[in-house]
Amino acid sequence: MISEEIKKEIIRLKKEKNAVILGHYYQIEDIQEISDYVGDSLALAEKVLNVDCDIIVFCGVHFMAETAKILNPSKKVILPDMEASCSLAESCKAEDFAKFKARYPDHMVISYVNCSAEIKALSDLICTSGNAEKLVNSLPKDQKIIFAPDKNLGGYINSVTGRNMVLWNGVCMVHDAMQAEEIIKLKVKHPEAQVIAHPECNGALLKVADFVGSTKAMLNYIKKSDCQKFIVATETGILYEMKKNNPDKEFITLSDSENCACADCSYMKMNTLEKLYNCLKDEKPEILMSDEMIERAKQPIIRMLDMSKQLGII
Ligand code: 13P
Ligand code: SF4
Repeated sequence: MISEEIKKEIIRLKKEKNAVILGHYYQIEDIQEISDYVGDSLALAEKVLNVDCDIIVFCGVHFMAETAKILNPSKKVILPDMEASCSLAESCKAEDFAKFKARYPDHMVISYVNCSAEIKALSDLICTSGNAEKLVNSLPKDQKIIFAPDKNLGGYINSVTGRNMVLWNGVCMVHDAMQAEEIIKLKVKHPEAQVIAHPECNGALLKVADFVGSTKAMLNYIKKSDCQKFIVATETGILYEMKKNNPDKEFITLSDSENCACADCSYMKMNTLEKLYNCLKDEKPEILMSDEMIERAKQPIIRMLDMSKQLGII
């Protein structure tokens, strides 16, 4: 089937099965277009709580679909490719993390949402890149904290909050590979451009950025800024939304640098229109979890959503 036919079939199946498609900003354009809601991790996690449907098709990576199931367990949650993982989630296995955590018995555990349900169940509070700074700032100054699994996001939050959180040694393979040197070369070519970066990037890169923020924060920043040109240090899927919202502005990515560091997440890009169609047709692969795991992993996510509401972030 050609793309347009597949899209029509997806729309037909979606109606027939009372399904809702949630898509992350890093998905391919065709999937973003056909999604009922497109957002970053925080927005999609919140959306899941109030969707009126029988099936949630989560076009993102496994930990995101798992989070959707945890938050709304009565729904059937399916994702186009079960192998769509995340280097952060892969870096942090429950058995190793439990041992790590045991070394710091007086610390609370904050985990970035990019982790498995097992790690969430071992955590006190979940955060996303969109709320991490405010959540950490809202805790007592003397609160000892373990932050997992992203050492770059954790290091960035330490630097802006003055905390000294103990960091798990994980990285996002896409953002961590982006090099400050390449950004500087682009900046020399385009001196009028501003550098905007996701906090999953390494510390050296964040130092040369004009603005550091989550996916949503970057989108808001570009909309409000008078600047016309941006060097974007994040996953390329977001360019679709950036260009749609700002047709007159120009975006340069690391793929435009001489030593092209591909800024595509191979996990996110595993989802295709064909796989989306098949998963809706067959209603699988499905996220299945024990009630006990759902209950344990849910507590720190609900705490994040409650605190985010109180702090006016959502
Ligand atoms: P958000 O900015 O949506 O939280 O996510 C970044 C990311 O890498 C998702 O995998
Ligand atoms: Fe994980 Fe990075 Fe891919 Fe996001 S972009 S899913 S953090 S590997």
